[in-house]
Amino acid sequence: MDVTTAPAPAAFSPVDVLVLTVTEPPQPLTGPARRADRLLEGLISRAIDDGEITGKAGELILFHTPPAAGGQDSAPRRVAVVGVGDGADHLDWRAAGRAAAKAAGDLKAETVTLAAAPSDGPVEVGAFVDGFGTGAYRFVKFKSDAEERPSAKLTIAGGGATPSDLDHAALTVDAVNRARDLANSPANHMTPLDLADHASKLAADIDGLECEVLEEPALEALGAGALLSVARGSELPARLIVLRYEPQTVARESETLGIVGKAVTFDTGGISIKASSGMEEMKLDMAGGAAALEGAALIARLGLPVRLICAVPAAENMPSGTATKPGDVVTAMNGKTIEVINTDAEGRLILADALAWLTTQGASRLINFATLTGAIVVALGEVYAGLFGSDDEWLQDVRRAGEASGDLSWPMPLHEGYRPLIESRVADLANAAKKRQAGAVYAGMFLREFTGELPWCHVDIAGTGMVDGKGTGFGVRLLLALAQQLSLEK
Ligand code: BES
Ligand code: MN
Ligand code: ZN
Repeated sequence: MDVTTAPAPAAFSPVDVLVLTVTEPPQPLTGPARRADRLLEGLISRAIDDGEITGKAGELILFHTPPAAGGQDSAPRRVAVVGVGDGADHLDWRAAGRAAAKAAGDLKAETVTLAAAPSDGPVEVGAFVDGFGTGAYRFVKFKSDAEERPSAKLTIAGGGATPSDLDHAALTVDAVNRARDLANSPANHMTPLDLADHASKLAADIDGLECEVLEEPALEALGAGALLSVARGSELPARLIVLRYEPQTVARESETLGIVGKAVTFDTGGISIKASSGMEEMKLDMAGGAAALEGAALIARLGLPVRLICAVPAAENMPSGTATKPGDVVTAMNGKTIEVINTDAEGRLILADALAWLTTQGASRLINFATLTGAIVVALGEVYAGLFGSDDEWLQDVRRAGEASGDLSWPMPLHEGYRPLIESRVADLANAAKKRQAGAVYAGMFLREFTGELPWCHVDIAGTGMVDGKGTGFGVRLLLALAQQLSLEK
């Protein structure tokens, strides 16, 4: 995304929309707000007095400015007054940016300027930029009549954010929006091979980031029987897509963050086929993998001092004459045998091998993102992801990163009492339970079997990673916040 800085007075040049922020409750107008109020002959103060501008986060009130003398545009065409709540929560600033982007889109504005006050620092302005850039996102790649209209150009006039702060926010926006693009792309345009190509292009573009793609012969040699079993029904092969980032300096010498994301580029359910209604949404079943790749690349692009290795298992889950059948037994990379009770519980199979592989690659802690279970959508909906893990401290770290970034997750239990659910009569484990209960916990208990002794967290994003059939980019900002936490020496 494009965002530029300008000195404070530039706010009052002829732009399509000038954005001003107000807190809740509104404070006496100063600086650019006061100047805009004069331009509008006191209409802003009047709207505040009348209680129509409250400052509630994301509230937007739009004014047209009076035509300038001589008909020449010398002032902003419109002034949008946007609420930022009490001003102390950066997520409120993000909501304000989203509201501004929506208004700019509706108005077909080409230029938008935020008039920032000197007290609006990098956190506030950065969050506004984030909201603006992610709020302007649309998936129009396949609309032949999509207007040739790029989204509005944003300028930040005044305020305490440096160009490099804004760059940081803009790169975050790009990563979140790219993760959405990857997930939203139809399965015939985003295969495991396409995703691997995307990862290698990311690596080619970023210093210190290397990509390696493990193909089927390599996966066979490693004994990745669980991942390979999912791809068996598809014409397309499986891939294990790996990104490694070696920073110039490392904050914690003994740490390597291991990141895994589920990338089922289409999930028909396989032989345990899904109902057809709504099945098109299963192109999004790679949202975890998209977040993992884009999150890892963002950390590297920003040069954070955190060593990481990201492994994204990618496959298409299809029924065919060669597909895995219910009752088949497969062997995962760590040697555990799995009875495939339900071929639609494929995410845990591909994650099993990716997690097991990372335990052999020097990772010191693990986190995985996956659109894993319908059960977590029932439990937590679209607001909180399900958070599962084996290590209390690491769970707290992930939760905290979620609160800081807005990618919320809520702890779910893993308890030995659930263990009978994953037992099989013929193999070490079963991938699905006979009992229809605790489906999201079941999946977490299953994944834990592949994480060795490492601190590990599983984030089930089936509800938060896809909303109304669209990818959200959930997880990208969480990974960034987590890496920022790990950037502090311990
Ligand atoms: N990809 C689905 C989970 C899913 C469901 C994601 C709805 C987003 C929205 C996953 O592979 C799946 O099919 N899970 C099954 C597991 C069951 C067969 C044990 C489920 O949740 O029903
Ligand atoms: Mn499935
Ligand atoms: Zn799935």
